[in-house]
Amino acid sequence: MINVGIVGGTGYTGVELLRLLSQHPDVSVEAITSRSEAGVKVADMYPNLRGHYDRLTFSEPDAEQLGAMDAVFFATPHGVAHALAGELLEKGTRVIDLSADFRLRDADEWSQWYGQPHGAPGLLGEAVYGLPEMHRDAIRQARLIAVPGCYPTAVQLGYLPLLEAGLINPEQLIADCKSGVTGAGRGAKVPSLLAEASESMKAYGAGGHRHLPEIRQGLGDIHGQAVKLTFVPHLTPMIRGIHATLYGQLNADPQDLQVLFEQRYANEPFVDVMPAGSHPETRSVKGINTCRLAVHRQGNTIIVLSVIDNLVKGASGQAIQNLNLMFGLPETRGLEAPALMP
Ligand SMILES: NC(=O)c1ccc[n+]([C@@H]2O[C@H](COP(=O)([O-])OP(=O)(O)OC[C@H]3O[C@@H](n4cnc5c(N)ncnc54)[C@H](OP(=O)(O)O)[C@@H]3O)[C@@H](O)[C@H]2O)c1
Repeated sequence: MINVGIVGGTGYTGVELLRLLSQHPDVSVEAITSRSEAGVKVADMYPNLRGHYDRLTFSEPDAEQLGAMDAVFFATPHGVAHALAGELLEKGTRVIDLSADFRLRDADEWSQWYGQPHGAPGLLGEAVYGLPEMHRDAIRQARLIAVPGCYPTAVQLGYLPLLEAGLINPEQLIADCKSGVTGAGRGAKVPSLLAEASESMKAYGAGGHRHLPEIRQGLGDIHGQAVKLTFVPHLTPMIRGIHATLYGQLNADPQDLQVLFEQRYANEPFVDVMPAGSHPETRSVKGINTCRLAVHRQGNTIIVLSVIDNLVKGASGQAIQNLNLMFGLPETRGLEAPALMP
């Protein structure tokens, strides 16, 4: 049995880790932290988990307790993993960080976007970007994983086959993305109120969102050199889900795009290339670790539609996919249930 701890257990990605791990036959959650709910039983706070974690209680983060685990997930705001990851790694605990702390390789760039100094630049060299469809072998060897962000996952998986094949102009990429409100976390914020977010839709971060440098870095790795990307996120009245509409301009004779996508993802357990002409819906991935893709063409423009659940393939499910790889388990272990419908 793999013993794990979760730092930040009361947030949306923390409780999603608990829900998914309750079905994982090889993992036992032995520690879960919340400073504000310390002493409260998990099942008292989250009745959906009654019967699954009846002996588990939220506690203050404690490096000794967490350092006794085989792996610790950080489901916390940025900066928290910076402070604790080094100590845990020294104790032999593997770290899977859902925040942005180790996603950007350049500490100065991270500081510019997050408005504070990078708290652990010495660990950046060994952090592995946890997108299995790109970095599976490195993840297997890793001690420290930076789980990709939700928008970055949907966008990179959509562009991956096209950039690898050199089919689109890397200077003219446009990602028009929509997210459900859980993407902003569980903390009380005015824009997330029902009366603010429902029956309405708005763009945000159009002048530059924190996920932009992460997506640029990832697409640049795929392409082999820097790309130019316009990325505009939108807030939509959904609870879960990311929908990315990705545009690219053909710069080479297109092969059969459908075949290109199907072949690239033929062996990927969590990428589903839909039949030609499809329009994937966010509700088709509700609660599951799958990214569903469809590829279309209008003249010289390629359009890829990419949907994920922001809390699963966009965060907690992908974190467990990484854990499975790190511990030599089948990659799909604990992640096999079908999506919720409707
Ligand atoms: N929501 C998404 O769709 C999504 C997707 C991908 C990645 N992420 C990333 O995943 C991380 C967690 O997101 P979330 O949406 O689950 O956040 P959230 O709902 O705001 O929850 C944050 C959790 O972190 C704990 N926490 C806050 N400050 C802490 C500190 N200084 N030390 C220890 N624990 C602290 C909170 O509990 P206490 O304050 O009680 O300790 C809470 O349990 C963020 O970095 C986010 O960017 C989120």
